[in-house]
Amino acid sequence: MIKNSGLQNNRPARLDDLLRAAVARLHAAGAPDPVRDTRILARWAVNLSAAAMAAEPDQGVSPEAAARFEAAVAAREARRPVSHIVGGREFYGRWFEVDGHVLDPRPESETLVEAALAELPQSQPRRVLDLGVGSGCLLLSVLAERPASSGLGVDQSVEALAVAQRNAAALGLAARAALRQGDWLSGVDERFNVILCNPPYISETEFQELTPEVSRYEPLAALTPGGDGLSAYRTVIPGLAEVLSPGGAALFEVGRGQAEAVAEMLSEAGFASRQLPDLNGVARVVRGTR
Ligand SMILES: C[S@@+](CC[C@H](N)C(=O)[O-])C[C@H]1O[C@@H](n2cnc3c(N)ncnc32)[C@H](O)[C@@H]1O
Repeated sequence: MIKNSGLQNNRPARLDDLLRAAVARLHAAGAPDPVRDTRILARWAVNLSAAAMAAEPDQGVSPEAAARFEAAVAAREARRPVSHIVGGREFYGRWFEVDGHVLDPRPESETLVEAALAELPQSQPRRVLDLGVGSGCLLLSVLAERPASSGLGVDQSVEALAVAQRNAAALGLAARAALRQGDWLSGVDERFNVILCNPPYISETEFQELTPEVSRYEPLAALTPGGDGLSAYRTVIPGLAEVLSPGGAALFEVGRGQAEAVAEMLSEAGFASRQLPDLNGVARVVRGTR
């Protein structure tokens, strides 16, 4: 059934009517940012740029586009993430395919990309390892910015690796990004200049407080290892010395309040560490060096 579509009296729906009704519905459904979501869904469903929408806000919308928009709004009312509805999201200036098998790339993870780029010269070949590659957003963003470098992405999930592979191909990076199924460092027998790792780090307690977008639609194995959320760091850090090149850096994304614990683990493994803040000032990346 098409609700609030503006199709009454056989007149074409008007864009501004559709947008207003959608914002009200998403607001009532508890979506955190109904205006932003409505704009993204409308641009996708009606296939218009933001400028074209702003230039003619009362333009007519074809019945097909109105129906597509209605389905998208209904999915968002059920708190399906916007990225799953439109098939992807932008991360570090590039488009990444995203589905229910991968973590929806988070803006704060761009801090990890920035930190990696600071370690990598523009035009000398370097090797980058991404542990828990997911959609590939970290490894592929770094390789896109550093054309002489190449890397390996590891994930336990074959479904996630398939998404990463499609993203690598779409970005023209497949030749420089190898992808492999594996359990963290097991089977990795090469040294890397930069090691990136954004593991599942949500604790069991925090998991209870997640929004429906996250807890219903994102893969559990990408979100939480259970317990205090730190088990992946406990597994990876003791093996780092075997895979990090001399002068290299290991960069870990951490959850709020976890940086000290991860710095401590690095210190026990013989690494010096530094904490780097995200744009909100939260210690988001811990950098370990020998
Ligand atoms: C938080 S997500 C990060 C995804 C992506 N790197 C990003 O930053 O958006 C963690 C990823 O680690 C993967 N993972 C979980 N346990 C793993 C394990 N034991 N070995 C390898 N990958 C694992 C999950 O499948 C998931 O893709």
